[in-house]
Amino acid sequence: MSVLASGRARASAHPNIALIKYWGKASDSELNEPAVSSLSLTLDELRSETCVAFDESLKSDELWLNGKRDEQKLARISANLDKLRRIAGIDTRCRVETSNNFPTAAGLASSASGFAALVAAGNAALGLGLDLKQQSMLARAMSGSAARSLYGGFAKIYLPDAEPAQTHFGSAYAEQVAEAEHWPLEVCVAIVSEDEKKIGSTEGMERSRLSSPYYQAWLSGNDVDVVQAEKLVLARDFEQLAELSEFSCLKMHAMAMASRPGLLYWSGATVDAMHCVRELRAGGVPVFFTNDAGPQLKAICAPGYGAKVADALAELHGVKRVLRCALGPGARVEALD
Ligand code: DP6
Repeated sequence: MSVLASGRARASAHPNIALIKYWGKASDSELNEPAVSSLSLTLDELRSETCVAFDESLKSDELWLNGKRDEQKLARISANLDKLRRIAGIDTRCRVETSNNFPTAAGLASSASGFAALVAAGNAALGLGLDLKQQSMLARAMSGSAARSLYGGFAKIYLPDAEPAQTHFGSAYAEQVAEAEHWPLEVCVAIVSEDEKKIGSTEGMERSRLSSPYYQAWLSGNDVDVVQAEKLVLARDFEQLAELSEFSCLKMHAMAMASRPGLLYWSGATVDAMHCVRELRAGGVPVFFTNDAGPQLKAICAPGYGAKVADALAELHGVKRVLRCALGPGARVEALD
């Protein structure tokens, strides 16, 4: 720990939604290197806030999630705190308090925002002095999608060509593609269930790698999709980005569904919401859908169309509520206390 560091800090971060999906790991090492690159947008209104307190008097790590002590998720947090401790060269245990203003582990990327906030808080608390690229590598080692939540606006995870360097961080990192202001898209999240998903992304990806006959085809197409999506974001080409993003989403789910046993993250309401979005688009409303390892449907709208799309989704039987978001900023340290 740096002599100036207090061991305590509070940071916040927002979930991100992938337009070109990450699903699959390069190896089973604890560096959690992704097998594919990906591209996402960071949301504004949904938020995780994480406080860390490294404290010599603690005998073991503690996790408090949304105000309650959580023993079940503690092992994963502890393993990730070890990554911070290794860099700092300390063994001090830590109390982590984290809260989300949205459903946890329901396909709304709470692990992305939670781990991005943990890295930002840990970096500040321990005085590690990691730059954003290093922080994104560390966040990736905790949860692949978390690397992208370090950045606001649009971000991509970059897979270096070279062999990974044997460092604390591994090799793949995220970088910003464009600021939120570049293209103020709106996002409507149709909540169809608040339950925690039964099969998390980490387990699902591994199952797909081991058993889906479409896995190799999935791996071979993703880099091209990311390169194309980046160009479309920079050119603000909504129509083509809509087509490409739905392609990436459906391609990921088709490959996951073909795993054994098949991974089926959608509910009937998810599919109804997909049809609703496509009907709106056919009627001239610039909107497209995407969906992750859970049933919620995310509708990405051109600037100014969020209200109309939210109203249409809210009408659907099975949609409990619709959250509206703008694009948001990256992770940030809120306090050193
Ligand atoms: C479907 O980042 O949660 O949301 O690295 O195992 O923690 P781990 O996986 P995670 O996977 C996210 C999968 C996805 C697509 C995406 O966000 O790119």
